Amino acid sequence: EKEKEMIRDSWESLGRNKVPHGMVMFSRLFELEPALLGLFQYNTSCGSTQDCLASPEFLDHVTKVMLVVDAAVSHLDDLLSLEDFLLNLGRKHQAVGVDTQSFAVVGESLLYMLQCALGETYTAPLRQAWLNMYSVVVSAMSRGWAQ
Ligand code: HEM
Repeated sequence: EKEKEMIRDSWESLGRNKVPHGMVMFSRLFELEPALLGLFQYNTSCGSTQDCLASPEFLDHVTKVMLVVDAAVSHLDDLLSLEDFLLNLGRKHQAVGVDTQSFAVVGESLLYMLQCALGETYTAPLRQAWLNMYSVVVSAMSRGWAQ
């Protein structure tokens, strides 16, 4: 229960608009794994990574990702209710060529973003709480990916 409260509080403290935080997260992701940029079919029209990230299609995906995280945070008491959605989401990412290993790099990028945004309030227990939640999400997506 303590973990859930920490996650909810920290997520809320990022403010209503999560997209700028999502941009930080995806900048980090593409820094760690530049090849992922190539999986977006619409990446051809942009020059640099930063240009790509600022394009409407990328912003759209960042928004979608943040909505999934938001859904997970709101369903912390009942993550199982997201199971079908996450299985399907994993399947869709298999179809667009995302490897399950990359989901872990997304997790690292999520933690990086939280660290940047939360500063001193980002603590080891908070990090662990987020890791635990994210691993539930990724495990469902990975199962869907493999189905
Ligand atoms: C769709 C790539 C991680 C959530 C897509 C699409 C691509 C993509 C190419 C289809 C085009 C689009 O809708 O923009 C990636 C890559 C990832 C990644 C390279 C890095 C590993 C994630 C994660 C989440 C997520 C971690 C959520 C936790 C979504 C959603 C959609 C989507 C909600 C829309 C699916 C639908 O059309 O129903 N992703 N994705 N993605 N992605 Fe990702």
